[in-house]
Amino acid sequence: MARIAVVPGDGIGLEVVPQAVRVLEALDAARGLGLELVDWDLGADRYLETGVAITEDEFAVLASDYDAILLGALGDPRVPGNEHARDILLGLRFRLDLYVNLRPVRLLVPDHSPLRHATPEALDLVVFRENTEGAYTGMGGVFKRGTPEEVAIEEDVNTRKGVERILRAAFRHAADHGRRLTLADKSNAMRHAGQLWRRTFDEVAAEFPDVEREAMYVDALAMDLVLRPDRYQVIVASNLFGDILSDLAAGLVGGLGLAPSANLRPGGIGMFEPVHGSAPDIAGKGIANPIAAILTAALMLDHLGHEPAARRIEAAVLAALRDGATTPELGGRLDTASATDAILDRL
Ligand code: NAD
Ligand code: IPM
Ligand code: MN
Repeated sequence: MARIAVVPGDGIGLEVVPQAVRVLEALDAARGLGLELVDWDLGADRYLETGVAITEDEFAVLASDYDAILLGALGDPRVPGNEHARDILLGLRFRLDLYVNLRPVRLLVPDHSPLRHATPEALDLVVFRENTEGAYTGMGGVFKRGTPEEVAIEEDVNTRKGVERILRAAFRHAADHGRRLTLADKSNAMRHAGQLWRRTFDEVAAEFPDVEREAMYVDALAMDLVLRPDRYQVIVASNLFGDILSDLAAGLVGGLGLAPSANLRPGGIGMFEPVHGSAPDIAGKGIANPIAAILTAALMLDHLGHEPAARRIEAAVLAALRDGATTPELGGRLDTASATDAILDRL
């Protein structure tokens, strides 16, 4: 048995998560995976009604009573500063100490890439994004708000513990899969944190002598990722750089409609969410691509020990995409539910 909290959230999260749930329920019915899916109503509507995004009790229950969280997206133009999203999304990542944000990016159908020569073999990478500190802690403040002398300070917090554990997770993945590891930093301009990352990178490397590795400045890496994506297999980066690089990489394989992610702490609960947000520009139209959410459900099944079921989902998605059974942003004509039907037909 696995107990899963399902949090569709806001915008297209409310449209794509139910589709991922359809796929999970179909597999569960066919294979007896023993999934217990429990709906959680967290998001902008509740926040706007009650003023509370998520309570202490809810954090505690999620941490103790669940094996996984399947999340859609949080973000709503009606909430200034997206406070509820910070409380819920970053709150869960931080409070559950989900320090690995794993974001695999694979080219499935060459035509989906804006790159002329991309092939599935040459565009297959995973971003290990630090997920509990960096520029995301909210430390800092504003002084003289609203005056011409206003000062805004946003701290970039890098701890030895935080840096070391994400680097070690990335090295271990690279070692286990025989892959090359690239560190993305900005140690030329941001020296204090950058040097901590580079020093720790070299130290942890000693534990993984077989892993081929390279440290790059994130700006140069961003460019090279577009020109020579085949050089990159595992990329490890701080919270902010990992956020940006994972959207960039998703763009190289067809966009956010295809990009899954997992927030993990080895041995602990996992939280699984598509890389994309609530997409207010298309929310409510029924045209969001459900595949990012469906591939996210596959990552969750991997985490829960159901690898064969996860591979079944990936194969069905690939088959549907190859047949052109896609939503409009990939040039198809299907709506969200019909795109899921196409996957269910091939499952
Ligand atoms: P977004 O990811 O929501 O959308 C970016 C672009 O990608 C949009 O044009 C959108 O239409 C497109 N897109 C995204 N997902 C798609 C899908 N499944 N199918 C087809 N097209 C898709 O990013 P944004 O517009 O910068 O952010 C919107 C809101 O979501 C903001 O409030 C932001 O803070 C929030 N957000 C939340 C998460 C999360 O909950 N994990 C992630 C990113 C952004
Ligand atoms: C993501 C999102 C979030 C992030 C936002 C909504 C805070 O962009 O999950 O990638 O930056 O982590
Ligand atoms: Mn992002």
